[in-house]
Parts: sequence; structure tokens; C-alpha cells
Amino acid sequence: MTKVHFKQDSVETVTVMTQARLLDALLAREVPVKMFCGGKGLCATCHCYVVKHPENLTPITNQEALTLSILTGAKPNSRLACQAQLLGGDVEVELPKGLYIESVSELESLVGKRTDVPILHPVSGDVLILEGKIITRTLIMQLADVNFDISSVNSSKA
Ligand code: FES
Repeated sequence: MTKVHFKQDSVETVTVMTQARLLDALLAREVPVKMFCGGKGLCATCHCYVVKHPENLTPITNQEALTLSILTGAKPNSRLACQAQLLGGDVEVELPKGLYIESVSELESLVGKRTDVPILHPVSGDVLILEGKIITRTLIMQLADVNFDISSVNSSKA
């Protein structure tokens, strides 16, 4: 078994099987990971920062490196949780602040509300709406041309 510590305001720990993916630890902690790409290393929705013991994870795959190369907010310690497998020994991770959406229509239910986290693109991680903004119909209309098609976004990366 391996312990994964989640650093936010405090540190929470979940225990998962060694050889499990870091994503499994996120899901065990009930982090609402959207897995837009189905866990293939093609989107941003499982992005996390490894703050302690990155050596306890499998190395970054080529696909993961490609995806991270275009991901807004990626840092040298970024990993895609679906691609990183736990090798044994504790790992500590931090999640980027924000809410990934899969389409603009997801915002409809939030019209008139102020977002307390940035609204993020599910593939590039781009901030679509800044933290603290009130979501309006005008704002939603301005996002109408945003491309959420994962295949076209990935082909433009190569
Ligand atoms: S779920 Fe898409 S990259 Fe991990």
C-alpha cells in the first residue's frame, strides 16, 4: 500500500495499492476529476503538482510530456494523474485551483453566480473565466467559439 498526501489548506491522506495510478488516489479522495480524455493523457483535468517524492512515481511518458507542454499552469513538478503510477513510498500532491468544464453549456446553471475558482479549459488548462467574476449570459456568449474538441486541440499541439 502507498500513501498519497493531498496538500491544500491542510494535508489529507489516502491509502491506495502500490502500482495504482495517482488518479486512483484522487478518485479515492472523491476529487471530481472529469477525465475528459478517458485517462489517456490527453487533457488537463487530472493535472496535479507533485510537491514531495516525485521519485516514487513512474517517469513522465511521451504523451504526458506533450500534453503538459501546452498546459497553462504547468510547472516542472506537474504530472497527469492518469499517467503517473505509484511505485511505493509516500507522495504528496497539490491540485491546481480551478474548475474544468467540458462545454460552455455547463455554465448555464451558474448564470448570476460569482465563481470562487477560475473556470478552466479541459484540455489546455487556460483560464476561461477569472476567479471572482460573475457568470453572465454575455460572458457565456463570448466563450461560444472556444474549441472543446479534444482531437482538434491535440492535433494542433503536434
Ligand atoms: S484524464 Fe485526461 S489526461 Fe488524465
